[in-house]
Amino acid sequence: MKVSFAKLARPASGAVAVAVADGGKLGKIGQVIDRATGGALSAAMKAAKHTGQAGKTVTVYGPPRSKLTTVVAFGIGKAKSMTAQSIEEAGGTLYGTLSKEPRATIILDDVKSAAVATADIVAAIASGVALKSYRFDKYRTMEKASAKPKLNSISVAVSDVAGAREAYKVREAVNAGVLLTRDLVSEPPNILTPVTFAARAKELAGGGLKVKVIGRKEMEKMGMGALLGVAQGSIHEPKLVVFEWNGAGKNDPTVAFVGKGVCFDSGGISLKPGAGMWDMKWDMGGAGVVTGLFKALAGRKAKVNAVGILGLVENMPDANAQRPGDVVTSADGQTIEVLNTDAEGRLVLADALWYVQEHHKPDTIVDLATLTGAIIAALAEHYAGLFSDDDDLSAQLTDAGLAVKERLWRMPIGPEYDKLINSPIADMKNLGGRYAGATTAAQFVKRFIRKGTAWAHLDIAGVTWAESGTPLAPKGGTGYGVRLLDRFVADNYER
Ligand code: BES
Ligand code: MN
Ligand code: ZN
Repeated sequence: MKVSFAKLARPASGAVAVAVADGGKLGKIGQVIDRATGGALSAAMKAAKHTGQAGKTVTVYGPPRSKLTTVVAFGIGKAKSMTAQSIEEAGGTLYGTLSKEPRATIILDDVKSAAVATADIVAAIASGVALKSYRFDKYRTMEKASAKPKLNSISVAVSDVAGAREAYKVREAVNAGVLLTRDLVSEPPNILTPVTFAARAKELAGGGLKVKVIGRKEMEKMGMGALLGVAQGSIHEPKLVVFEWNGAGKNDPTVAFVGKGVCFDSGGISLKPGAGMWDMKWDMGGAGVVTGLFKALAGRKAKVNAVGILGLVENMPDANAQRPGDVVTSADGQTIEVLNTDAEGRLVLADALWYVQEHHKPDTIVDLATLTGAIIAALAEHYAGLFSDDDDLSAQLTDAGLAVKERLWRMPIGPEYDKLINSPIADMKNLGGRYAGATTAAQFVKRFIRKGTAWAHLDIAGVTWAESGTPLAPKGGTGYGVRLLDRFVADNYER
């Protein structure tokens, strides 16, 4: 979506959308546009009881004696209680009413005593339009052009043009990360393998962002038996990707983000049932978020020292695949009895976490993984699970999630669950009991965190893919996590 900002003025032709705050009163330019429609806009608003409620739209098509094709009034909510988030969602709704037009002008008359600055209101509207317009259609060769949405350029008219540009620049950088994450989780698993994923990560290098790719040989040397065990049934070489962004001072803390990147999870020898197995192309969602996050951090030149790790593998059944009952040794020397080859994410995380602690000594680690079906049973698509024994870090992440409406719900971990993953023949097994599956998985991951390192684990299995779309995304990959972690960084490392 091409987004530009211009001085408040009445557009002579084309599609126009007028933002309306609480009370439903049209502003100065809004009134001019209403007159150009012969009063049709205000009449339609009255008839539809449109009083500026956030997300409510009224559309007048082809008003007579006017060159305007479509005129939309869209609500941005009560001046005093509006939030950037609610306005952005209104922008997402607005996209639906304008998508058939190739371009559109959006008008924001000044809103009196608004809780959000004018520049931030328009940046949020434009951001909502841009995020909701996302489409992954690169493999659709037969779709008629007339069936595709057309909107690819919006011009936003506002009094504070310079402020709006500035505010949008930051959002645009973060959104570029979100869109990249959606692309990655949407790609089919024959296209996005550990090898091609690593290559796409490598493309992000530059402008201060360092990207290193580590292959099987080196992983063998480091003794990453847990990750390599998962990968051994696949013809695709596993890769470990390391992002490094040093935007702060040498003595400032380092925060690390580690993502599960299972490019396809068939379950391995503990094969999954066929129905729905296609969903397991997005089992690299954690790695997708970390990749999008580093694009965002580098794009907006975040003042933080951050390291990102992607553990990229494919989990396949094969004559060479690992068996239920195998015992593997992780890079830090712990032994794991693999009772179910479908509980592979924790094995990948174990060695990825060892690597980041061994080589980067981060003060804080946040890992993300589409780790368990159990977290979906508990929270559905509304929250991701947050597992941590650090109350401060938990609060920071929870607050960031609330601010961008990518919400987290804290779930328990603790020694009482530890017993469930003890093995009689190894240090641990990769399978808990019948209950608390998301917690026993988190408890397993925790065993690979060194004392003194603040750590949180986000189980994003329920929020990575939306079967029926969200206010800011169509059906498919949501990009959940990029905005959350970007906000977490901005609020806690850049003040
Ligand atoms: N990738 C799956 C978890 C998952 C399920 C993600 C559905 C997204 C949607 C994970 O590797 C897995 O298979 N977990 C098992 C663990 C079990 C074998 C202990 C699960 O949750 O059933
Ligand atoms: Mn699995
Ligand atoms: Zn998995």
